[in-house]
Amino acid sequence: MPNNIYNFVKKEELDVVMNSTASSRGLPNACYINSDYMQFEKNKLFEEQWTVIGTASSISNIGDIKSFNFQGTPLMLVRDDSNQIRVYHNVCSHRGMQLIKDNENLIAKKMIRCPYHSWAYDLSGNLIATPHIGGLNKHKVDTFSKESCSLKGVKAYVWLDLIFVNLSGNAINFEEFIKPLKSRWNNLLAQEDQDMIRHPVDYGYVKIETKCNWKFPIENYCESYHLPSIHPDLNKYSKLSDHHDIISEPNIFAGQDTITYNPQFENIKLPTYFPSWPKDKLLYAEYIALYPNVMLGIHKDHYFACWLEPISTELTIEHMEFYYFGDEVAFGDNYAEYRQANMELWKRVFLEDLSSIEGMQKGRHSPAFKGGVFSSAMDTASHMFHKWVACSLV
Ligand code: FES
Ligand SMILES: [Fe+2]
Repeated sequence: MPNNIYNFVKKEELDVVMNSTASSRGLPNACYINSDYMQFEKNKLFEEQWTVIGTASSISNIGDIKSFNFQGTPLMLVRDDSNQIRVYHNVCSHRGMQLIKDNENLIAKKMIRCPYHSWAYDLSGNLIATPHIGGLNKHKVDTFSKESCSLKGVKAYVWLDLIFVNLSGNAINFEEFIKPLKSRWNNLLAQEDQDMIRHPVDYGYVKIETKCNWKFPIENYCESYHLPSIHPDLNKYSKLSDHHDIISEPNIFAGQDTITYNPQFENIKLPTYFPSWPKDKLLYAEYIALYPNVMLGIHKDHYFACWLEPISTELTIEHMEFYYFGDEVAFGDNYAEYRQANMELWKRVFLEDLSSIEGMQKGRHSPAFKGGVFSSAMDTASHMFHKWVACSLV
């Protein structure tokens, strides 16, 4: 694999992305349709960064384990004996068998046993059994060090239920990385409220397959320019004029806020608000894309995260996760109708975006398109994401 981005795109094509919004262009077509480029990008934009690969609530009990295919790299997510989330490379140290099958979920396991020769690992990744390693019924060999054959761990951190990993181990520590967004959101939601967010069992998850590159959902999420044309219903109560860009410093996230989030749920019991949410901001909401792959939305009464799983240059899975404050709103029958209505509202909004993001994917096969241009009034946040990509590639 060539280790230089300029094997895939011209230097001038990336340099121009870094200009000010009005004089810049977008990323070139190769960044959306070239599968060799995608392998290069996997390293720079995912393995070198803090990337979301799932939720802690999806492995809610000690010993729960699930596999995750990180763009071809097999991983497994584990809740260990001390209730901590751990992420390991999903491969046996003996002869390299994949330990947990693709899409496999295991419940309340005490250990991880390899299906090939039955070597076993505890939930902390230690190799604890090597049956017949020294010949029939001889399960130990003095010269063999079990310690050197533990599972290989991946740096992982849980924030707002999202499991972030840094595969390369080179990223800055997670607390430092998340500090700009965490400080921003602590003004909306105190830490004790954040600790009380719950992922419902019903109406808590939506999976959407999008026939486009993973970058399109992100850059589309950053801007409200398309609100009147693509989301006419949303635009009735949360108008384009009520939205404002959010640009981070340093450039690790971008998005928009609204000052008029006020959907009408008729004849449905509505939940109470997050106790710490500012009383003068009850119609305020923020929609932030945290690079590379998660889109977050925060409101007075719910929070959602839509994390992206790139499958190929032209296929991405959106995993939408919904959260409410406390057990009663998240799990009680009293609020089931609200959970359903709220989930359906957001699903509808995300589905409305499909025609645009899939249409842009088709457009990237046109040799006449050279990255396009940005409106400095309307596209600045989307441009910030392009800029982050360009800066991270070189
Ligand atoms: S490959 Fe796992 S025990 Fe042999
Ligand atoms: Fe949209």
